[in-house]
Amino acid sequence: MAMIARKCPEVRVTVVDINVERIAQWQSGSLPIYEPGLKEVVDECLNRNLFFSTDVDRAIAEADMIFVSVNTPTKTFGQGAGRAADLQYWEKTARQILANSTTDKIVVEKSTLPVRTAAAMQRILDSGPGTVKFEVLSNPEFLAEGTAIADLQNPDRVLIGGHATEAGRRAVAALVDLYAHWVPRERILTTNVWSAELSKLAANAFLAQRVSSINALSALCEATEADVGEVARAIGMDSRIGPRFLNASVGFGGSCFKKDILNLVYLCESYGLAESAAYWQQVVSMNDWQQDRFVRNMVGRMFNTVSGKRVALFGFAFKKDTGDTRESPAIRVARQLVEERAQVVVTDPKALKNAASDLRDLGDRVIFEPDPYAAAAGAHAIALMTEWDCYAALDYRRIYAGMMKPAFVFDGRNRLDHQALYEIGFNVCGIGKTPLSDL
Ligand code: UDX
Repeated sequence: MAMIARKCPEVRVTVVDINVERIAQWQSGSLPIYEPGLKEVVDECLNRNLFFSTDVDRAIAEADMIFVSVNTPTKTFGQGAGRAADLQYWEKTARQILANSTTDKIVVEKSTLPVRTAAAMQRILDSGPGTVKFEVLSNPEFLAEGTAIADLQNPDRVLIGGHATEAGRRAVAALVDLYAHWVPRERILTTNVWSAELSKLAANAFLAQRVSSINALSALCEATEADVGEVARAIGMDSRIGPRFLNASVGFGGSCFKKDILNLVYLCESYGLAESAAYWQQVVSMNDWQQDRFVRNMVGRMFNTVSGKRVALFGFAFKKDTGDTRESPAIRVARQLVEERAQVVVTDPKALKNAASDLRDLGDRVIFEPDPYAAAAGAHAIALMTEWDCYAALDYRRIYAGMMKPAFVFDGRNRLDHQALYEIGFNVCGIGKTPLSDL
């Protein structure tokens, strides 16, 4: 919304949320999330044509177009628990829009929703007295965290789904006009509502599948003498495959991939497509296995026990340049290490607060330490969980001197200079690589 405000100065954008504290932070210009470049955009537009408020009813009443970006977590109860999307916030919002509208509205789905939810939305909105007309569009967001501003500024495509009626076409055109302020027309795709909804799930499933595919190969590389980086390079140079999203890792995380794939699996099952469901489920299962394998390898290399040993996790965010830890592989790894009775020390430049909340129940079995040098002091091992640039630039001689020997580095992102670490004296294990170790 901040980007729309910046690019469309004649449009008044009001962002509303029921969370008073969060709205106050946005208003004060001290943002509640870390996203490079976002503050500059907000600062430019704040109180010019970008406003933040907790008065949801009033903002609904005044708007011509409403973007709904409420959370759609995975259901934790009842039918489809653990897989289907929990749409209660979405439905509440639909009813609130209906209750507060006295003029026609275009309602834009921004939340990722399982296909055919817009129909439910339309039915709720049409259940009123009929004096106000609602047109529901699907406009899924493809930005990635950490690169959100660049992704919004220069998107590969903008996708807008609408109904093939006259009113539907008018609504689509209105939304296209907004994006056309800065996105070339040929990158603005218009489709039917279902295609737009499904494309978002499908894009995330394809992306996650690439990571699971390269991770599946990483295990084979470790068992043989192949190097997963070399394999990724060789296959990525095939122009049909392309070089991006082929970094083997301890696993993918983030708020979207797992949730969206499980949604897709549930959808396939609902339509009786057991094979399609099993196919996509395997992308998630492979990701769980990769994380488990990482810990198994750590324990195995460290003489089959980490009990009582200090282990430093470098990074806790699910990727660099964000403080977000949702579904971060570091959570599972930290928990398993604690189960093995290790003393876990977590460090991260932006995600320590979230990490502490994720691992709250583990009490003093986990220590949170902002300084990576202090985190590694006295440790038997370092595990790189997030590819933050700052971790590649540390003085590893100094770190090595303060660690227990033999000292181990488990590089869950293949981001460190393994040869240099080995020369310092570390035993080094990457993902999909032959370990550098004298043991
Ligand atoms: C993703 C989609 O990219 C975005 O289009 C969608 O809107 C939301 O979900 P995001 O979750 O922010 O974005 O992060 P992304 O960059 O896709 O990375 C997801 C996870 O995969 C991270 O944990 C990342 O570290 C991991 N990953 C990515 C790999 O392990 N290897 C890779 O080669 C790429």
